[in-house]
Amino acid sequence: MLDSNLFPFSNGVLCCEGVSLERLAEKYGTPLFVTSRNSLVNQYRSFEKAFALLDHLTCYSVKANFNLHIIRTLAAEGCGFDVNSGGELYRALQAGADPAKIIMAGVGKSAAEIEYAISSGILMLKTESLSELRLIDEIAGRLGVQASVGIRVNPNVTAETHPYITTGDSKEKFGIDETDLAQVFSLIGAMDHVNLTALDMHIGSQIFDTEFYHAASEKLLDVLAVARSAGFAIRYFDIGGGFPVTYDPQKPATPIGHFAEKLIPLLEKAGTTILFEPGRFIAANSTVLVTRVLYRKRNHAGKEFVIVDAGMTELIRPALYQSHHEIVAVKPHDSMMVADVVGPVCESGDFFARARTIDAVGEGELLAVLSSGAYGSVMGNNYNGRLRPAEVMVDGDDATLIRKRDTFEQLIQNEV
Ligand SMILES: Cc1ncc(COP(=O)(O)O)c(C=O)c1O
Repeated sequence: MLDSNLFPFSNGVLCCEGVSLERLAEKYGTPLFVTSRNSLVNQYRSFEKAFALLDHLTCYSVKANFNLHIIRTLAAEGCGFDVNSGGELYRALQAGADPAKIIMAGVGKSAAEIEYAISSGILMLKTESLSELRLIDEIAGRLGVQASVGIRVNPNVTAETHPYITTGDSKEKFGIDETDLAQVFSLIGAMDHVNLTALDMHIGSQIFDTEFYHAASEKLLDVLAVARSAGFAIRYFDIGGGFPVTYDPQKPATPIGHFAEKLIPLLEKAGTTILFEPGRFIAANSTVLVTRVLYRKRNHAGKEFVIVDAGMTELIRPALYQSHHEIVAVKPHDSMMVADVVGPVCESGDFFARARTIDAVGEGELLAVLSSGAYGSVMGNNYNGRLRPAEVMVDGDDATLIRKRDTFEQLIQNEV
């Protein structure tokens, strides 16, 4: 849930820190993503506080929200970054992130991306296949350097979450199977340009039960023992991201302190620096999506539709994962109604909520779709010729435009 101190109601209007969302909507138009800078920082700091007893580096997973200002805000806090492509690496570097704190994941990195990562001097590349490992060795050889590499192990632990965001199960494409590890170790042993520095896993996203991390970490510790006995000096033990947030007050997330309590005694056994890759935990509840009601209509069956100017092109999570997002009126009403909140995109899946009790808003009024900071804007697209929205970051009483709204010209600029 949002921190109500950072998203308070003031004079009957929902604000982000000290700035009214109504004012921001008037100034920048809608749909509009509005991020609280202090919420981002607080989330990062609460993660750091929970794991303070461990030698660790937190690498924010920029796929959750890669706006340069968000990366910059976290870099200023000392945060590292987890990137998943050349494009994300470019963003992190452009935002001023320290390459020595950047790690790169990705089940299908291209040769160009691998070369870019190695020549940027990042902390390590996580490899997910034998073929990729050979390519890394070859590219590092051509560049005349040693590539620092981590093996992403598939621990075959099925975390209980949405099937599209479970990644540590052996039927998924991610990581290298435990059964192939002996081959991997002997291959790396014979390579001249690969330095195995890390073991890595990522078992999924929005995982509520600490037990899944515990079970997978135990498996990774077994792999660590084998790697060490094979002579590798492993310096980093990376347990990935996936730490949960509350989207729905009826389903509160397990507090981060519980994960720390359960995992610290186990992770200390690694005797390495522990890497974490939280994305959602830091970004999700720091941003709201402000949208205006275009139309209301009622069908023959008495079903009420609230048609808003944002849709699945701005926030695809309800359509893709059937995710719940709280929806509140920027200016709350005394009366409520049951309605479907839907977008303008030509897809039946374009909805934010179905049969939801919401404020009885009228046409022209503003709604805020909460917890939209992770996997929101970054998954946005121009389907239906939609213009990707503007984004604003608020710090106290100051609001800064951190992304301009797309223009029609930009929609066609690459079509030559
Ligand atoms: C390798 C890796 N690390 C970290 C994350 C971040 O996950 P979350 O946002 O749930 O923390 C992801 C998400 O897909 C991922 O694939």
